[in-house]
This record gives sequence, structure tokens and C-alpha cells, in this order.
Amino acid sequence: MRIGIPKEVKAGENRVALTPAGAAELHQRGHSIYVMRSAGQAAGFSDERYHKAGAVIVDSLADVYAAADLIVKVKEPQVEEYALLSDRHVLFTYLHLAANRALTDALIASGATCIAYETLTDAQGRLPLLAPMSEIAGRMAVQAGAHHLEMAQGGKGILLGGIPGVASANVLILGGGVVGANAAAMAVGMGAQVRILDKSLARLRQLDDLWRGRVVCEYAVQERIDALALQSDLIIGSVLNAGASAPRLLSRELIAQMEKGSVLVDVAIDQGGCFATSRPTTHQHPTYIEEGVVHYCVANIPSAVGRTATLGLTNATLAYVIRLADEGLTALKTDAGFRAGLNIYRGQLSQAGVADAFAIPFSDAAQLLLND
Ligand SMILES: NC(=O)c1ccc[n+]([C@@H]2O[C@H](COP(=O)([O-])OP(=O)(O)OC[C@H]3O[C@@H](n4cnc5c(N)ncnc54)[C@H](O)[C@@H]3O)[C@@H](O)[C@H]2O)c1
Repeated sequence: MRIGIPKEVKAGENRVALTPAGAAELHQRGHSIYVMRSAGQAAGFSDERYHKAGAVIVDSLADVYAAADLIVKVKEPQVEEYALLSDRHVLFTYLHLAANRALTDALIASGATCIAYETLTDAQGRLPLLAPMSEIAGRMAVQAGAHHLEMAQGGKGILLGGIPGVASANVLILGGGVVGANAAAMAVGMGAQVRILDKSLARLRQLDDLWRGRVVCEYAVQERIDALALQSDLIIGSVLNAGASAPRLLSRELIAQMEKGSVLVDVAIDQGGCFATSRPTTHQHPTYIEEGVVHYCVANIPSAVGRTATLGLTNATLAYVIRLADEGLTALKTDAGFRAGLNIYRGQLSQAGVADAFAIPFSDAAQLLLND
């Protein structure tokens, strides 16, 4: 298989879809890898390392798309890439089609087959190619929260772990999934007093078994959320209802009653945010203060640690890239979880949710694939 790795062109993106180590594994299996010049630079991987791994370095996006049949990326294709895709391409990347009509139309028109990281599932029905980014976001949420509790950042001047004789900070985590569990691990590691609220009793049981009282795990009802919020120094919003926008867990009135200089980290901002006062921020300007409370609402937290994010993402994707390279689309025919990643098959939409969102005709393209 001829595999292409474009340089990511979306603003602020520092990741690359394949490491030199991954390129070496594919090369050893007899595949040809075409890496765009400086594609790995921001993540710390030089062209020379890809070359040593057996990859061919090419000069432009157009060269990558022309040379390869399987295109592996991080972010969805940008406008300048639309015309480079054709019906001989298989595209494997994060797509988030339901949020982007122009992209959906362009990919359908290209005739390409597009497999999305974010809808692919594992044997337990989890989302294995989303998890590493949630792990990073959860860990960084605490790091960012601790920093913004400092007075120079507008915070109330509390050290997360306290010191002997001075109480540590109260950290409230709303949503104990992948982000929440990773945030809890970091906050405990820094010595904070940590509480997780979740709506899933099954999840609360798992967390309670793990933490055995070191983290207090409670069922999320509004009365408890409000009461605990007023006693918290740092609140991390990490809820998710798959396919829906984030539920609003804190009202403006409640936030206005919080102690000034408290910090809200709304990780769920990419799903609209779970605090009434949240609006998206960037790594360049990560916070603003509203109702006296510091808000950190960065929508692409992992890109701040492009190297860790690249390694984490490629650890998760490489096995799937190898299967696509070795078997082609047969890999999807024999694995329903991999097939769940199929969003467009040869120009036909295979995700009912995306078809609904844009009132586009839906054909069961996964079935078409199985029949081919
Ligand atoms: N900002 C970023 O850079 C970034 C990065 C990664 C993930 N995220 C976002 O973080 C959020 C969490 O992701 P995840 O991977 O941890 O999801 P997850 O599915 O693993 O966990 C979500 C948890 O929220 C709980 N929940 C749902 N509704 C709730 C409610 N009303 N009250 C309390 N708990 C509730 C669920 O039971 C679940 O345990 C998502 O919105 C995701 O898109 C953002």
C-alpha cells in the first residue's frame, strides 16, 4: 500500500499522524510511505528520521495526495486539501463531520472512502482513538487549573496541595469518564482534596473501587453540584453525552456566588461547554474572568503538548493503519468496530447522524461495503 502523511495545515495543529517508528514498522511490512517535508517538525520528528525509517520525503500536499492511496492525518482535511482527494483514496483521520457541512459535501463529492477516528469502536464499544486525547485533556486540566489558581493569573492564591498546617485545595470533577478519571489521578497526585460527581452508578462503582475513599465519588444531582461548587477552589467540567451537546451544570447565578478567584476548567467546551458562562478560548489567550471566577475553556487542549499527543495518538492508531495497509478495506469487513469508523464509502454517507444533521440522503454504505 502507498501511504501518505500530509503536514497538518489546520491553524494551531502541532501533531503529525505517524511517527518515524510507525513509518519503520510499515516500511518493514513492505509498504511505501510518503511524508510531506517538515510534517513532523512541530512534534519533534525531523525529515531525516522519517527518511532513515524508509519513508520518502515529498515537497507538497499535492505530492502526498498524488503519491498515496491511503492518506493518514490528524485533523479533517482543510479547504486547500478538498480538491486533492479522489475516488482512489482512503482517508483515515479525525473528521467530526456533523459539525462541518462544507467538509461533508467536499468529501462526498471527492468519491473517497473516509474512516473517522472518533466513531471507530473497540470490542467493549469504547472509542479507542479518542481516549488518548481525553487522557491528555484530563491531566492538563489539573495542571492548568493549579496554575490559574495563582494570584498573578487572577486566581485566589491557593496551592493545590497545601502545605503542612494549611489545607489543600478542594477540586470538584463533574463527569468521571476518561477526562475525569485522569484529572482525579493528577489532582490526587498533587495532594488536593478531590470529589467526582457522575450520573452513571456503574462508573461511580468503578471509581470508588479504585480510589477507596481517597476520592469521594457521588451521584450527580443538581442540588449536590450547586452545594459543592460553592465550596470548591477548582471545578473541572468533563461530562459527555455522546452525540449531544454538553448539559449545563452550573448557572450564572451560582457561579456569581462562588468565591472570587476560583477556577473553572471547562474541558467539555468542544461540546458547547457545561458552565453557563463558558465560551471557547485558545492556547494564546486561555482564560477570561467572569463573575470574578477564572474560566479556562481551551477547545484543543492536547495540541499544547504536540509531542505527547502525537505519540499517544499514533500508539492508538498504528495497529489500525497497519491493518488498513495490509488488508485494505477487508479489515473493515471483518471487524464491526473498525467498520463503525466508516463515515463515507466511495462518496456515499454511512453515518445516519450526519445525514440527519444536514438532511442529506443516507444510504447504508457500510452494507454496500460488505456487499462489494
Ligand atoms: N477541550 C479539549 O481539548 C478536549 C479534549 C478531549 C476531550 N474533551 C471533551 O471532554 C468531555 C469528556 O470526555 P470523556 O472522554 O471523558 O468522555 P466519557 O464518555 O469518558 O465521560 C463522560 C462522563 O460524563 C458523565 N456524565 C454525563 N452526563 C452527566 C451529568 N449530567 N452529570 C454528571 N456526569 C455526567 C458520563 O456518565 C461519563 O462518565 C467531552 O465533551 C469531550 O469532547 C475535550
